[in-house]
Amino acid sequence: MRLSLRFIVPLAMALAAIAWAVVPLVDQLTLRWFVRDLDIRGELIANAMRERVIDLVQEASRTRVERYFAIVSQDERLYALGFCQPSGRLAYRTPAFPDNIDCPSPATGGPELGKARSRVFTYHGGPLHVVLQPIAVDAQEIGRLAIVHDMSFAQRRSDDTKRFVYIFFVGLAAVVSLITVIIAELSWRGWMAGLRAILTGESPRNTTVARPSRELRPFARDLQLLLREIEAERAYRDEERMSWTAEALRNILTQELKGDEVLIVSNREPYTHTRRGNVIEVQRPASGLVTALEPVMRACSGTWIAHGSGSADRDTVDRHDRVMVPPDNPAYRIRRVWLSKEEETGYYYGFANEGLWPLCHIAHTRPTFRAPDWEHYRAVNERFAEVVVQEARTEDPIVLVQDYHFALLPRMIRERLPRATIITFWHIPWPNPETFGICPWREEILSGMLGSSILGFHTQVHCNNFFDTVDRYLEARVDRDAFSISLGGEVTEVHRYPISIEWPPSALAEVASRAVCRETIRRELGYAPDVMLGVGVDRLDYTKGILERFRAVERFFELEPRWVGRFGFVQIAAPSRSSIEEYQEFEARVRAEAARINARYGSVGYQPIVLRVEHHDAASVHCHYRACDLCFVSSLHDGMNLVAKEFIAAREDGEGVLLLSQFAGAARELTEALIVNPYDVEQCAVALAAALAMPVEEQRARMKNMRALVQEFNVYRWAGRMLLDAARMRARRRIEARAATRAAA
Ligand code: G6P
Repeated sequence: MRLSLRFIVPLAMALAAIAWAVVPLVDQLTLRWFVRDLDIRGELIANAMRERVIDLVQEASRTRVERYFAIVSQDERLYALGFCQPSGRLAYRTPAFPDNIDCPSPATGGPELGKARSRVFTYHGGPLHVVLQPIAVDAQEIGRLAIVHDMSFAQRRSDDTKRFVYIFFVGLAAVVSLITVIIAELSWRGWMAGLRAILTGESPRNTTVARPSRELRPFARDLQLLLREIEAERAYRDEERMSWTAEALRNILTQELKGDEVLIVSNREPYTHTRRGNVIEVQRPASGLVTALEPVMRACSGTWIAHGSGSADRDTVDRHDRVMVPPDNPAYRIRRVWLSKEEETGYYYGFANEGLWPLCHIAHTRPTFRAPDWEHYRAVNERFAEVVVQEARTEDPIVLVQDYHFALLPRMIRERLPRATIITFWHIPWPNPETFGICPWREEILSGMLGSSILGFHTQVHCNNFFDTVDRYLEARVDRDAFSISLGGEVTEVHRYPISIEWPPSALAEVASRAVCRETIRRELGYAPDVMLGVGVDRLDYTKGILERFRAVERFFELEPRWVGRFGFVQIAAPSRSSIEEYQEFEARVRAEAARINARYGSVGYQPIVLRVEHHDAASVHCHYRACDLCFVSSLHDGMNLVAKEFIAAREDGEGVLLLSQFAGAARELTEALIVNPYDVEQCAVALAAALAMPVEEQRARMKNMRALVQEFNVYRWAGRMLLDAARMRARRRIEARAATRAAA
């Protein structure tokens, strides 16, 4: 607008000046034309009257001369006629002949013989034109004929002309201004698109994005270099932060993000309040997501929005449904969202866990999609979007949206808070396009997720599957080189952020030493102190490969019977999603399989497999990690799997062996683990034997590398990398906005 004014105002002024100068000019010109016309007309009339006037003047008959004058002056433009004698005396005249006309002789300044003379003058307020035409007989002047024309018609025409000229110039000014504004607006947009192309580094190959305009090209490279420098410096500072700690994360929040507001949205809350009789207990749910995000939230003191699912959750919130946690050392707050039974059934059990969960995991469990579940899913996502708006104190918070429960939420937030930086992290695998394509609402889900500014997966394979899926089902531009997807002009960056755990895990503070844990856990399980122990820790979920694990233990006993009675395996299985039939059946199968193997290899006082289907707190889980000789993670498909990383972190003694499924994201990082295919029972049995036979030095060597990796690539780094990318994006947006403001000024 300001730009347009800058064009319109001077233009309008220039046109006004032109009109002001041109109108009088046109006026003078037309007046001159009229005077010339009247000169010619006057002479013509005089010439036409000449002979008759000579006769009548020589007759000296006043009556006849004046009658003749009266007849001629009937012409509507002729005002009056008169005849002056050579002396200058007015001899004959029509009654209207003006008094202020004199008839000077050539001697006193009058016209020379044979030459007419004319002038314009005012009479009774109106303009008149007079031609004095000398009349001669035989070269002897006998007088002068005065022909007086009424010039008021010229005045009227001149006024009309002036009006037309004004109208013409005003119209011209309007048209030219309009054209100027349109051209200015178009070139402004082109300029901005070019600038944006430079700033975002979009490829000029891309036809939807303008190339930098010609005038921008000279400094396009400079600008890109500058941005690259800023990013390189940021990356350098990032790499420099060799030890990623809660403190480092806090620094990012205060320095890079200038204390910007952080909100987390997840389905599962980090603390649930549960009523047991008269007592309210606080529980930490068994969830990789919670394990990863809780330390992040403690570091940045934001707001965590989640479904309030504990039986005493409503009794512990304030009137805004908020509660400060952790209970013993409050550092951030949970905003609880309440869901009805039907909503929970449709959104959480139905669409999320019977639809998306099996869809994204290749665990050979058929997804179930029901339209009412989808409706609940959409409605609950909408509800959370409203809560995000309620909780946001600023227009541009950083919102960390977690997981497959909220695929639609990013776009819903984007619509309500367009300036928010939305980072969505998908904690589970992303399947290939064929697999994902069976979801009846695939386009809505993809478009919902692309409301994010940044979208994260654990591995590059999942990112690539997502790119392929979007390419297949949406009209979006997928740029794998730039790790971005643009849909309807909005760009989402898609990156790999392998999730991890806090280092060192705070739970370890309460855990006894290895020796104490070895002794305690064995006693609890009923094993002799020298029994070698394997451990598995999972939610009771069909993706975790618990049945395959048990079969591997059985096969191991078949292959190495000498271990019967000398090796025991404890499986901690946290009950999960038990309202879903598939999970109930799975639990029954797991129990039956453990019982079958125990019946086959167990004896009085010895059970080869101890199955503990109950919730264990973090301290107890970590004590199991310390107590065991090997940890077996056999997921059939897993985004990352944090149990593997927790086990490594717990082993400060540097001993113990990790058996890890090749289908868990963690296998890409923890390459010193014994990597197995859980579907290959022989291989797993051999790996169990190898683990139990592994010399301590080898255990230590492997553990050392893996501990170093988990220490460095911890959860603070995971969150920090995402927040640094968000900070870079926000900085870029600020540069863009500043450049736009400067250009508009
Ligand atoms: C996986 C999902 C998480 C979920 C967790 C526990 O790790 O990615 O989003 O919270 O399982 O499942 P639950 O259904 O009990 O929340």
